[in-house]
Parts: sequence; structure tokens; C-alpha cells
Amino acid sequence: MKFLSIEESNSHELESLLHLAAEMKSTRGMTSNQPLAGQTWAIIFTKASTRTRVSFEVGIRELGGNVMFLSGNDIQLGRGEPIKDTARVLGRMVHGAVIRTFDQEDVEDFYSYSGIPTINALTDKEHPCQILADLLTIREKLGTWESKKVVFVGDGNNNMSRSWMWAAKYLGFEFVVAAPKSCLPPQDFMDHLDAPNVALTTDPAAAAKNADVINTDVWLSMGQEGQDEKEALFGNYEVNENLLSHCAPNHIVLHCLPAYRGKEISEETLEAHANTIFQQAENRLHAQKAVLATLVE
Ligand code: CP
Ligand code: NVA
Repeated sequence: MKFLSIEESNSHELESLLHLAAEMKSTRGMTSNQPLAGQTWAIIFTKASTRTRVSFEVGIRELGGNVMFLSGNDIQLGRGEPIKDTARVLGRMVHGAVIRTFDQEDVEDFYSYSGIPTINALTDKEHPCQILADLLTIREKLGTWESKKVVFVGDGNNNMSRSWMWAAKYLGFEFVVAAPKSCLPPQDFMDHLDAPNVALTTDPAAAAKNADVINTDVWLSMGQEGQDEKEALFGNYEVNENLLSHCAPNHIVLHCLPAYRGKEISEETLEAHANTIFQQAENRLHAQKAVLATLVE
């Protein structure tokens, strides 16, 4: 009844969601299966979004449901009404909720107090739906992640990096995070993760050596705007043709988007890998339809 993090997931759940996502992708527009028929879902976002909002709105409709978008600024939540009260009201009216916000605790509290299926559409802690789309893209492009080296270059302590590390733990592929020292995940997180196949480095070229997948994300996540000192740490961490020269042949580049060219990725590299990166964006729709259908089973 909830999909709030990769941490709380497991290899079986990830595999079955990805299997369903691939099936839904291949049968899109050709099936009358509408598991959300008669339902209304709320999409509650207190942060900006293009891909997540559109893919959930389209996905819910394609599965037969109605959808209402609630911007955090427009509902009483934005004026200080507690999440637990918002959850108890919506839980009596809508059938499910997709939430993008800052604190992971808020999506957990929403689920506990509303009692309706709840999906994390990004918090400061995790971005689990994005990781499903990314894994689907790796499978489509490389066939498998088994025996592959997957690298994340950027803010190693952000939502994307953390969700990736949990996916690596459960699925067993080699995963390396390359980040400035102060942007590596802290030791207590690594102890908690307890994954021998996840390594950290401050050297992006060493990380990229023989890599099959290079993955990056914005240096400053939503809510960190204006942190110029943090941004200045990432001078050597641009994903560009020079960095990719260390990778394995047939490597792919992933970016969850939005991309800031000339910062975390060069224009040339983004455009050279646009086919993969926009396939990755499209896969949000298919992956999330699998999550929605599974939660209402
Ligand atoms: N990748 C992603 O979540 O994009 P949006 O912020 O546009 O939803
Ligand atoms: N780490 C980024 C992901 C954006 C999709 C952020 O939280 O802003």
C-alpha cells in the first residue's frame, strides 16, 4: 500500500515492478486493463516538477483513475496545517496520494494518518520512482545490470545517490559514488547501508574507469538554491567527454533531469546521450504505472 523508498523495498519487489513496467510499456494503448477505475488520486507537491507531475497525471488517467493536482502553496498545508490533518482529510476522500516534498517523515506520516496508498515522488532523502525508471533504462540499453559497474558522479549525499545505493545493495551490482569529500554519504549512512558492493571516492576519473553506466544529477537539489559554496566544490565533477574516455566501451549516460549544461554535464555529452536520457525520462511513466497498479492490487 506504499512506495516510499528504495530502502524499504527489496530485490523481489524491484524485480516485479520492473517486470510489470516493461510489460506495461510494451502494451501501452493496447489493453483495457484499468486498475484505477472509479478512483481519484491526489498529487500533492511542495516542490517544482515537470517529469514527475506529468508522468503521474498521465499514468493515473491511463489506468482509469481521476487525478487532482494540489500545489502545496494552494492548500492549507502551505499555511501551516499539519500533514497529519491533511492526511486524515484526504484519506476520507481520495483513493491514493503521490507526494513530493522535503521531509521523508512527511510522506511516512501522510501514509500512516491517511491509510491510503501513498507514493514518494521525491523527498530530500529519496527519489524511488526515478530509480525504477533508471533501472528499466539500464535493462533496455545494456540487457542487465549484472556484472556492470554503475557510477554516480555529483552530490553523493542527495536523494538520487541514496536511492541508487539501496538499489545496488538489493540488486548486487557494483556501484561507485564520486563526490567532493563533504558531499559523500556519511559513515553512519554507509554503516546502515552495509553494502560491500558500494564504494565511495573523491576521484571521478578513477570511478569512471571501466564504468558501464555514468549517472549524474544536479549539484544543488531543490531547496539548496543559492548555496554557492557547495556548488563551487564540484569544479572537477562535470560529466563530459574527457571523463567518459575512462569508461567501458558501450557505456551509457543517465541524467534524471533537469540538466544544467556546463555544470554537472556538458552540452556535448548531454546531446550525445540524449537518446538514453530521454528514454529514461519516458520510463518514469511506465515505471510509475507499475507502482500504481501494484499498490491497488
Ligand atoms: N527527474 C525528475 O524528477 O524530474 P522533475 O523534477 O521534473 O519531476
Ligand atoms: N536531486 C534533485 C533531483 C531532481 C529530480 C533534487 O532533489 O532537486
